[in-house]
Amino acid sequence: LRPGAWVEDAAGPLYVRLRKRIEQGIDSGLLAKSAPLPAEREIASLTGLSRVTVRRAMQELVDRGIIVQRQGSGSFVADAAPRVEQSLSHLTSFTEDMERRGLNVTSEWLTRGVFIPSPEEVMALALSSGEQVARVARLRRAEGRPMAIERASLPTDILPDPELVSSSLYAVLERDGNRPVRALQRISAVNLGAEDAALLGVEPGTAGLRIIRTSYLPNRRVIEYTRSLYRADAYDFVAELRLGN
Ligand code: GLP
Repeated sequence: LRPGAWVEDAAGPLYVRLRKRIEQGIDSGLLAKSAPLPAEREIASLTGLSRVTVRRAMQELVDRGIIVQRQGSGSFVADAAPRVEQSLSHLTSFTEDMERRGLNVTSEWLTRGVFIPSPEEVMALALSSGEQVARVARLRRAEGRPMAIERASLPTDILPDPELVSSSLYAVLERDGNRPVRALQRISAVNLGAEDAALLGVEPGTAGLRIIRTSYLPNRRVIEYTRSLYRADAYDFVAELRLGN
């Protein structure tokens, strides 16, 4: 962060240049994981930038899960997004997967309510004409780091009040006796669009994994149609294969 030097060799608004500079410092190992960062005022005087610009850059780093701010003790480089090994043969929820690994789950609401369904939702959930759909869309974090965006759609008789989902969707389904017992899952690679990339804290165009899960009750009724985007750098999907068919 030598004064002035960094400004010329980068493009974009000043706060973006500062954010990128700090990111480079972290990527190159110059700033170690968990290391404290100088105070905003100090960064401002080191770089010659205004406090407003520095604050904006820091806020973006917090939103991306790259730094964490602790009340009273300042900002620190966050630990890397936990890389998770995920079995493809168990029907588990995000909360269960993370808690089993001792990782703390938080979710940010993107959508939560009852809507007129899209043709895709009508098909996937076999909704009848005029029936509405419950949508629960969240950015999901483990230890504060963005891991996945999950957009779930359910029939409204299964989830009449999406507001009741406070943390785990599957916990609500389980409580109502609607825990899915079977699911089909389709995984494909995507390049993340600008909006999804920003939520996941990566650059636009970064590779991600799209996972579409369709879940069933024991009576074969579809009750969940979820489109998820997972950070490709945070997941290894693992399946056991056996000879034969
Ligand atoms: C997984 C699945 C989603 C499912 C979610 C429920 O991540 N990919 O299809 O909706 O778990 O998780 P939770 O119960 O934590 O809300």
